[in-house]
Amino acid sequence: MDIQSIQLQGIGVFDSGIGGLTVANAIHSHLPNESIYYFGDTDRIPYGTKPASIILQYCLEVSQFLLEQSAKVIVVACNTATAAALPQLRATWPEIPFIGMEPAVKPAVKATRSGKIGVLATQTTFSSPRYQSLLERFAKPYQCFEDPCIGLVELIEAGRWSNTETERLLRSIIEPMLAEGVDTLVLGCTHYPFVEPLIKKIAGPTTEIINPAPAIARRLAQILTEHNWLNQTAQPGKKKYWVSGNKDALQKALKGLDLPLNNIYRFQAQ
Ligand code: DGL
Repeated sequence: MDIQSIQLQGIGVFDSGIGGLTVANAIHSHLPNESIYYFGDTDRIPYGTKPASIILQYCLEVSQFLLEQSAKVIVVACNTATAAALPQLRATWPEIPFIGMEPAVKPAVKATRSGKIGVLATQTTFSSPRYQSLLERFAKPYQCFEDPCIGLVELIEAGRWSNTETERLLRSIIEPMLAEGVDTLVLGCTHYPFVEPLIKKIAGPTTEIINPAPAIARRLAQILTEHNWLNQTAQPGKKKYWVSGNKDALQKALKGLDLPLNNIYRFQAQ
């Protein structure tokens, strides 16, 4: 395929549900001319409590679908899916750049003054060799306090971003970390930025909260530039969304973001 045709192709982005929209939103702000093809696997959410082998199968299916929509790059906008599947996705499609997400432990190490970091992510992310290696490489002299935030993804997916039940759950997770002297919190699941205002309210103004989505958008821009794959036309890119289950959560989430709210399709497995 010639380079101009590749430039016109879109960015595939996927997650178990609405979480990856926080990354798609950062991509849209940074690269407004790029088309985005988003897949939310809302029928099979949550990923974060399932075994890695099952998530790998889901990721292969979803990536295959996004490539059929002619994605030129795939952003795995899910820490859990990255932990479970990134090397296998890269090995299956060696010609396609795959960008993964992992808890931002490295920037947290730079930001912390107390040497104590709180990491919020899913159980499957914490259990993965990828996360263990991240700690080995960057967090050795620091203390990391981890919480798998049981039930939080479901509350966020249900649109309960600021109600008392969500606040109670977040307090039970964050307050013990603050009591230990944590001054930096890593949002290690792409769903959690939806409750960032609540996290800020609980953690207070002196706690640093790290959301890696803007860094992922910058990394994507770098990869597209290196390949000469940036869309060179001045037209805003098209946005298309597919969900394998319920559309409501996606619709509500899109209203709260800058992303255009149109072209939502129901994906039917063959
Ligand atoms: N958004 C996903 C992540 O970044 C996890 C959500 C889920 O458990 O399905 O890890």
